[in-house]
Amino acid sequence: MTVHGLLERALGAVERWQVLDAPGYQVEHGVSLTFLLAGRYARPLQDLLHGVWLGHPLHPALVTVPVGAWAAALVLDGLDAAGRGGPGTGQAARTVVGIGVAGAVASAATGFTDWQHAHDGARRVGLAHAALNSTALALYAWSLRDRGRGRARRARLSGAAGFAVTLASSWLGGALAYRHGLGTDHADRSPEPRRFTAVADESDLVEGEAVGVEVDGRPLVLVAQAGTVRAVGGRCPHLGAPLGEGWLHRGELVCPWHGSRFDLDSGEPAQGPSTAPLPCYDTRLRDGRVEVRRRAHWRTPTAVTTVEEASR
Ligand code: FES
Repeated sequence: MTVHGLLERALGAVERWQVLDAPGYQVEHGVSLTFLLAGRYARPLQDLLHGVWLGHPLHPALVTVPVGAWAAALVLDGLDAAGRGGPGTGQAARTVVGIGVAGAVASAATGFTDWQHAHDGARRVGLAHAALNSTALALYAWSLRDRGRGRARRARLSGAAGFAVTLASSWLGGALAYRHGLGTDHADRSPEPRRFTAVADESDLVEGEAVGVEVDGRPLVLVAQAGTVRAVGGRCPHLGAPLGEGWLHRGELVCPWHGSRFDLDSGEPAQGPSTAPLPCYDTRLRDGRVEVRRRAHWRTPTAVTTVEEASR
């Protein structure tokens, strides 16, 4: 069997491993309870950990800290073990192991915050990923303690074991992102339609409500509000929820699955878990029809045609 085949079988086994479901719910309850205890700070805290402020999931950016620090420690330990290190090599290794431990704790907080919305196979893979990361963290914490007590050989061994576990866990993390799409952008970013295209009758619009329509087979949401019509993408960037089933809250479009809120002018998430903006469309009303055109760039202002202008 090829390496690829072996990895596929291993991943498939984790995805189908239902024994992980019960502890998965326990962990999810623990995450929910933690945020519940944060009270009114829960939402901003979750947005911070998701990376809404960054416009990108924070977790994959943060994991580079422990992986990079521990890789450096592995090299320094290798030099030390081979007798090629200098007088400060041991201390340098201890420092980078400590940096990695701190980075791993921060990464775990962002990872659990993202994971709480995963389902089925992704949920199981995420839990296995978390279990391996916790094992690696424990090994490095042990290694750090041994380094402080002068047990260099044992510290190097537990560090090397921790790095092997980290590699296995990174592979599962990659499967979570690239196979299950956790943290990737699920919005439709097609540049079409480039010309104004009719998508609905003006009479289909309902004041203050999200109306789901399609353009060239892609879902879109129309919102008529205070005499204007706005159009945004109909798939939530977080996990692809149908935003045509969403609703408005204080003028923002709310995702029906996990509550992301989007500004209708910029498409930007005002609240996570989505970290990516919605695609926006220019709109105009012609002969009783609503027409849309993909906005050239998400930062360009929307050309919103008001109902009054159209009827003049
Ligand atoms: S799919 Fe999760 S917030 Fe929309």
